[in-house]
Amino acid sequence: MKHPNRPLLIAANWKMHKTLEESVAFFNSFEKLLRPSSASIYLAVPFTAIKTMADRVGKSGVLIGAQNMHEAEEGAYTGEISGRMLTDAGARFVILGHSERRRYFHETDSLINKKVQRAFLDGLQPILCIGETQTDRDQGLTEAVLKCQLTEGLAAVDQESAKKLVIAYEPVWAIGAHSATPEVIRETHLVVRKILTGLFGEGAERIPILYGGSVNPENAHELIAQQNVDGFLVGTASLSAESFAKIVQMSDNQSFKTNTVTKC
Ligand code: PGA
Repeated sequence: MKHPNRPLLIAANWKMHKTLEESVAFFNSFEKLLRPSSASIYLAVPFTAIKTMADRVGKSGVLIGAQNMHEAEEGAYTGEISGRMLTDAGARFVILGHSERRRYFHETDSLINKKVQRAFLDGLQPILCIGETQTDRDQGLTEAVLKCQLTEGLAAVDQESAKKLVIAYEPVWAIGAHSATPEVIRETHLVVRKILTGLFGEGAERIPILYGGSVNPENAHELIAQQNVDGFLVGTASLSAESFAKIVQMSDNQSFKTNTVTKC
């Protein structure tokens, strides 16, 4: 374990990929490749695969979750999915505020905040995604943008709920492109940790901060070694059972080494 209060967490974000058959085929292969690991493994699958996958993973320890949900408890919102429907289908967590939702579906921090609060009420663990664009970074606005996304996105979230929260720092410019450098990741995760401490005090210690943006089996080892990187949110490289299993393995090896050399 990298940090005594924060478990290593490796999450897959399949986005709009995989039919039911492909989802089950993934797990059939993944299960065979996986060695005993201290990492918590999350799979954010399409809505249509949640029930089948929750049944399929059974008691393996792998958790199934969703990639979005509506902010209302229920109602006349044609085509939408509620948190209750997700938990009912077997979802345990939900990704909220992903940059693709912000960009293509115009989700604002205040809407995302409503979803975060609803997720807690419906018994789902939210993974709140934050991250600056290239323009934000070029203009020196990274910290201000992250502070805004966290402060507004987590408004009215109390200490008790914060214990279950997960943050994913995903620089928009690094998604599906090239990973941020270890230096940028280390610096920015520290900024995120400080903002969280400002919001939740000591309770922030327990909140894992995942890195997302072009994580792959080649860079996982180096990236997980950075301070305050508690795991990954993986897109493209999570679509293949082989590469996702390798990322879990590379991350776990590193965390084991860190643990044996230093006391956190
Ligand atoms: P990527 O996607 O790993 O393909 O960059 C990450 C994400 O969007 O969550």
